[in-house]
Amino acid sequence: MSIAVIPGSFDPITLGHVDVIRRARGLFDTVIVAVARNASKSPLFSPAQRVELAAAAVQDIDGVSVVEVPGLLVDYVTAVGATAIVKGIRIGADLEAETPMALLNRHLAGIETLFLPADPRHAHIASSLVKDVARHGGPVADMVPAPVAAALVAAFDHPGAQA
Ligand code: PNS
Repeated sequence: MSIAVIPGSFDPITLGHVDVIRRARGLFDTVIVAVARNASKSPLFSPAQRVELAAAAVQDIDGVSVVEVPGLLVDYVTAVGATAIVKGIRIGADLEAETPMALLNRHLAGIETLFLPADPRHAHIASSLVKDVARHGGPVADMVPAPVAAALVAAFDHPGAQA
């Protein structure tokens, strides 16, 4: 059985993430979404919230599960016997950021990373930008799953963010 791990901060999960997860599931028997810690980011949502929101976002996709991975990603990937790590790439900056991580993970554990190009409809949707829009009361409902939109409204206490 082929297993892929899709790691990320998922702070929060977006429709772009969900599209990559769905497409990865077309390539692997099982896809595990790993909510991990990016040491260079200060997340808005707790790990438990991010797991809960991601799980709600993928609940209709068979063969996909969501876990929190608090430690080194490759330790988890190795422990579950995954074939590969999968990451979505939206723009050139993503490739620049992801390539060192992919090479490091291969260096550490011989794990390969596959890059899936984001669907152009989602290329502008980044968690950080979505949070910025929501923070200022802008509309995010067509960029994130409904539970995420609600969580963003609650986080910023900004009813206008639902529009
Ligand atoms: O969505 P992000 O922030 O680009 O995801 C980065 C993430 C969380 C996948 C990366 O920082 C990570 O793998 N963190 C877990 C700790 C780890 O294994 N670090 C070394 C590998 S880069």
